[in-house]
Amino acid sequence: MSETNTANSMSMTFSARSENEAFARIAVAAFISQLDPTLDELNDLKTVISEAVTNAIIHGYDSNPEKLVTIEAKIQNETVHLVVSDEGNGIEDLELARQPLYTSKPEMERSGMGFTIMENFMDRFEVTSEPGRGTRVEMTKRIESKKALFN
Ligand SMILES: Nc1ncnc2c1ncn2[C@@H]1O[C@H](COP(=O)(O)OP(=O)(O)OP(=O)(O)O)[C@@H](O)[C@H]1O
Ligand SMILES: [Mg+2]
Repeated sequence: MSETNTANSMSMTFSARSENEAFARIAVAAFISQLDPTLDELNDLKTVISEAVTNAIIHGYDSNPEKLVTIEAKIQNETVHLVVSDEGNGIEDLELARQPLYTSKPEMERSGMGFTIMENFMDRFEVTSEPGRGTRVEMTKRIESKKALFN
C-alpha cells in the first residue's frame, strides 16, 4: 500500500470549558494543514469544529467544566473525517434540532445556525444522539489540495 492510502488519525479529549473551543479549532487546523488546504477550506473546517465543540459544551453539558468533549480526526487520501462527541444531555428531536434557526437556548442569544453551517460547509454531515446519553457529530470533507496543482 502506498503511503498516501494509509490513514493518519488523531484523537483528543478535553474539558468542556469555553476556552478550549479555540484550542480545539487550532489543534484540528494544525493536524489538517498537512493536506495543504486552501485558506477557505481551513476556515470552513475551523468553523465546523467551533460549532460542534460549542454545542457539546453549551447544550451537551450545560457548560459543566468537569465533563469531557472528544474529537477524532482522520485523514484518508484527500479526505478529512471529523467526529465530535459528548456524553451529555443528548437531543430529543433531531429533526427539529437540525432546522435552520431552531435553538433551544434563545435566551442565550444563540442563532440556531450551528447544524446548518456544519451541513453546508462539509460534504457529509450526520448527527446521532440519545437523550441522557450524548451526541455524536460526524463530518467528512474532501480537500482540494493545493499541492495537486503542481504535481
Ligand atoms: N451536543 C449537543 N447536545 C445536546 N443538544 C444539542 C447538541 N448540539 C445541538 N443541540 C441542540 O440542537 C439545537 C440546534 O443546534 P445549533 O448548533 O444548530 O443551534 P444553537 O447552538 O442553538 O445556536 P448557534 O449554533 O447558532 O449558536 C440546539 O439549540 C440544541 O438544542
Ligand atoms: Mg450551536
